[in-house]
Formats: sequence, C-alpha cells, structure tokens
Amino acid sequence: MKEHAFFLSLGFTADQTELIQEAQNFITVFERIEEQISSYNENTDPEVIRQLNIQVYQSTSYIWAYKRKVLGLILSCKIISNNIPLLVDHTSREAYYFAKRLKELNEGILIPLPEAIIKENVFFLKIMADHSKFIGHLLDPSERKLVDQAREFSHDFDQLLFQAQDLDHMRPQSETTPLLDQFLDQNRVSVVALRDFKKTARDLIEACRIKSNIPALLADHVYREADHFLHIIDAFDAHLTAQKS
Ligand SMILES: [Fe+2]
Ligand SMILES: [Fe+2]
Repeated sequence: MKEHAFFLSLGFTADQTELIQEAQNFITVFERIEEQISSYNENTDPEVIRQLNIQVYQSTSYIWAYKRKVLGLILSCKIISNNIPLLVDHTSREAYYFAKRLKELNEGILIPLPEAIIKENVFFLKIMADHSKFIGHLLDPSERKLVDQAREFSHDFDQLLFQAQDLDHMRPQSETTPLLDQFLDQNRVSVVALRDFKKTARDLIEACRIKSNIPALLADHVYREADHFLHIIDAFDAHLTAQKS
C-alpha cells in the first residue's frame, strides 16, 4: 500500500498538489504501520495483532477510497495524469483484497475452501494479466523483443483468467481435487515464467540496461506480487494434498 501511494504520487502532474499531498500522507501512514509491525514477533499477544489488523484495515479502506476517487476524476476527464486508469483500478482492487483478507483473518477464516481456491486464482490471474500489460505499456517501444514478450504474457494470462472463470461457473461440480490440482499446476507454470521475466526485467532496469518508464521499485513490486501468488498456489496445493491423504 505504501508503494502504491508512492507510484501514484509520481504519476500526477506538478499542479495536482492536493492529490500528491494525499498520496504522501498515505506513505507516512503505512510507513508508521511498518515501523510498528517491526517491533512485533511470534510472541506478540494475539489481541495486539487483532487490533493491528483493525487499524490496517481502516487505513487500507481509506486508501481504497482515495484510489477510487482518483479513478473517478480520470474517467470523468477532470484530471489528466500519467496514472493510467487500469493501474489505478488495479491498485484499488489490491487494496480491497488486502482489507478483505485482514477481516477474514480476524474472523479466524484460514482454511481455503475449493470455492476460495478458484476465486483467489481469478483475482491473481487478473493481477498478473494487468502487470503484463503495464510492463508492455511502460517499456520503450524500441524494446521490441521485451514488448512482444510482455504482450505474450498478457495474452497467456487473459486466457488463464477466462479458463478460471469457466471453472468458476461450473461450481460446485468443478470442485473435485483432480480438477483443482490440474488447474493449479497450469497456473503455476505460467506464474513461474512471468515471475522470472519480471525478475530479469527488474535486474536490467536496476543496471540501466533497458529503456523504459518503469521505476526499479515498481519492477520489484510486481515481481514480489508474482512471487506471492506462487506461495498461495503452493499453499493451496499442499492443502489439497493433505486432504487426499
Ligand atoms: Fe501492488
Ligand atoms: Fe499489482
């Protein structure tokens, strides 16, 4: 959330001072939360963690509302900035997802139901498809090979997303373990490839070896999100394996 606020603040034009200020306030808010969390460990009282979740949930709801406001300003042509609508929408979906997850954790919802496995994949496949489009869009057009690769990933993830939606429509009949296993395996192959591509892109950007409008932190941010998705896929997979035995 802190990095989203930072990326948005970079995308506004110099005269959009209020929106920049709001973004900067969010950076401070999330930085403070980060500092607070760094003092916690596995021995921290669960009640303290529960309170923390409530606090982070509130801050995340506020940044969600801010992002939706910015999206509204862009879509009604009240502002023009370098924050493209899909990116603003994307970051708001991530905020919504994060807030929802915090709420679930406080309610003690931890076990992934088959329905949740499909829905979570639908969410993250769209996130991965969006990232591929952002990378393709922000690379310099003269980086033809990389732009082509980003487009291929975009297409691949659009297809996987449709496939996940197809499976979702077939619920509950699609909730058999072999089908879900196969579904996760297929997604994993593409997410590993995209994660490696993002890692290479990040390293090249850091070494100033490709031409783009992508800040190194953004390249790293999308890389970490792909890595996070992989961890989720593995956790679901482990859950299905445990169910079988
Ligand atoms: Fe993000
Ligand atoms: Fe993202």
